[in-house]
Parts: sequence; structure tokens; C-alpha cells
Amino acid sequence: ENDIVKNLPLRGKKIMITAGPTYEALDPVRFIGNHSSGKMGYALANIAASMGAEVTLISGPSHQTVRFDTISLVKVTSAKEMYDAAHKTFPKADIAILSAAVADYRPKTVAKQKIKKKEDAFNLHLEKTEDILASLGRIKKHQFLVGFALETENELDNGKTKLQKKNLDLIVLNSLNDKGVGFGADTNKVTLLAPNNKVTPFSVKEKEEVARDILQYILDNIDA
Ligand code: CTP
Ligand code: CA
Repeated sequence: ENDIVKNLPLRGKKIMITAGPTYEALDPVRFIGNHSSGKMGYALANIAASMGAEVTLISGPSHQTVRFDTISLVKVTSAKEMYDAAHKTFPKADIAILSAAVADYRPKTVAKQKIKKKEDAFNLHLEKTEDILASLGRIKKHQFLVGFALETENELDNGKTKLQKKNLDLIVLNSLNDKGVGFGADTNKVTLLAPNNKVTPFSVKEKEEVARDILQYILDNIDA
């Protein structure tokens, strides 16, 4: 029993993870999206599964793959679909980690036919998408809720504001500044920020090692 606890420290824990970008349709052939690869979210799912967790991975469009058939993979396209999937899974989760790069805005109307080229300028009317993370922060009970943030300025201050506003138990600050770090890269540099203002910086590492650091931190703090 002791060995199992050591090797599968997340056994019995249900973890929900969101990953990848979302695509917001403009017409039948076009969308607004971003360059998120999904690597960080899939790394979290794979490492969590290897640590014994029961994982539901809610993924936007991504070429990444899961390495364990125990992972329940829910593929979605838009922010609205990701919102619905997340709210279905969240009530039974123990831990939720939202690493997806959700589009902040979507076209207010989706054209039924392909939009034709006409005027010299073309204005898009956008509306806000659902903030999935904030909405979960408003309904959370026992769940340990983790957000990600990518800030290009005032990283710690902005991160702290997001942590409080969205009612999180932890926020993972993604540092874009260093070489080889960020969208599409295999490495990442993160700093963890807790509600008690505890700041835990990590060095540049492979995304699976970053995932291990994050999950270990959660394990050490979940019942604390
Ligand atoms: N997030 C979400 N739903 C959205 C937007 C963001 O669930 N519609 C989540 C992301 O998955 C991430 C966290 O919120 O875990 C922070 O995302 P980020 O883009 O850094 O923050 P925003 O609140 O969107 O603010 P801004 O983009 O203006 O910095
Ligand atoms: Ca955003």
C-alpha cells in the first residue's frame, strides 16, 4: 500500500484539465483562433494520469495526443462548447486546471454562407466569450481551482488580481520572455502564485516536468 501511494500519489483524485485554443466561427470556412499548441494541457493530463489520477481532458483543436487510455478526452471547438463541457465535469472533480487559451471574443453573428470580398475595409463585430475559469470560481465548493495566466507586463500584480477576481486556489504564471518558451515550444518557465501571496518560481524545463512540478505543488497544498 505504501508503495502504491508513493508511485500513484493522485490515485482516487478526479482532475479536470482544459487545453489548447478555441476557434470562434466567422462563417462556414473561417474562424478566430490563436497559436496555442495544447502541449502544456496534454502534458498535465498525461502526467496526472501517470500519477494515478482519473483525468478528464477538455481540449480545443490540437494535434497533441494522450498517452493513457484511462484519460477521458472531450474534444471541443468553441469557447461555448468548452464552457458546457467544463460545467458538466466540474461538479464531480477534486481538482480543475484551466490551461486552455480560450478566445476572449467571438464574432457576434456567424454568417451562414462564406463571406464575400466586397468593400476595401471590413469591420468585425465581436462579443465576449464566457469566462470559463471565473464561472467555475463562482460555483466552486470543495474543488481546488487552478488558472493559468500569460502576462507581458506587471506579471505578479496582474497574476494576483486574476487569482483574487476568479476565486482561484493557485495561478500558474507563464513566462514568455525567455528563449524557447511559450506557444508551440517543448519547454516552459512558470511561477506559481498562491492566495497567501507565496511565490514559487521554477526554472525552464520540459513541459512534462513543469506539469510534474504543478501537480506536486497541488498535492502538497490541496488538504493544507
Ligand atoms: N480563461 C477561461 N475562459 C476565458 C478566458 C480565460 O477559462 N474566456 C482562463 C484561461 O484558461 C486561464 C485564465 O482564464 O486559465 C486566464 O486567462 P488569461 O487570458 O490570462 O486572462 P483573461 O481573464 O482572459 O484576461 P486578459 O486576456 O485580458 O489578460
Ligand atoms: Ca484572455
